Amino acid sequence: MLKAAVLVSGGGTNLQAILDALEDGRIHDTEIVRVISNKKDAYALERAAKHGVATECLELKDFDSRESFDEALLGAIEAADPDIIVLAGFMHVLSSEIIRAYAGRIINIHPSLIPSFCGKGYYGLKVHEAALKRGVKVSGATVHFVDEGTDTGPIICQKAVEVLPGDTPEILQKRIMEQAEWELLPRTIDDIACGRIRIGKE
Ligand code: GRF
Repeated sequence: MLKAAVLVSGGGTNLQAILDALEDGRIHDTEIVRVISNKKDAYALERAAKHGVATECLELKDFDSRESFDEALLGAIEAADPDIIVLAGFMHVLSSEIIRAYAGRIINIHPSLIPSFCGKGYYGLKVHEAALKRGVKVSGATVHFVDEGTDTGPIICQKAVEVLPGDTPEILQKRIMEQAEWELLPRTIDDIACGRIRIGKE
């Protein structure tokens, strides 16, 4: 049984896609052992609770330093004892300590075809604003392993999505979520659970 901790910050539609895929059997032999958010108001926490998944919330503002927050986050992850960590819209840069402790076992979903529109400052709608500003005809989503860079870890899978005339950042974001993100992330977790993708520490 693959144990996954899912880290979230916002609406949780990627978490929902994972929960739905668990429900309908598209993800095998996997348990979400904890959903951890860095934002108390993240709707992702409601989605997890509705599904009976244990949740935890740690907000940076409740700690006297980033270091103490990161230490508490590592503790919360370790308490859940996951095999993998899934970043599903998690808007906090993981500490090197966490990344080293879970090397090769952290995956992230990014809403562009890396190496385009990624790295520092490229998150959420900003990714799609940049894609539209550049005038690309195709964008998409990428699932990659997390290393100590920003969106620089080994790419696991990608899916292209057409950019249409008249797209706004919001419209493009929604299409990429629907047509790419919500398919790629559950599929990657299932590939890991079924041994089609190897993870670190094996
Ligand atoms: C998604 O677009 C994801 O690619 C990005 O942040 C957004 C999170 O959305 N990392 P949600 O919280 O999963 O709805």
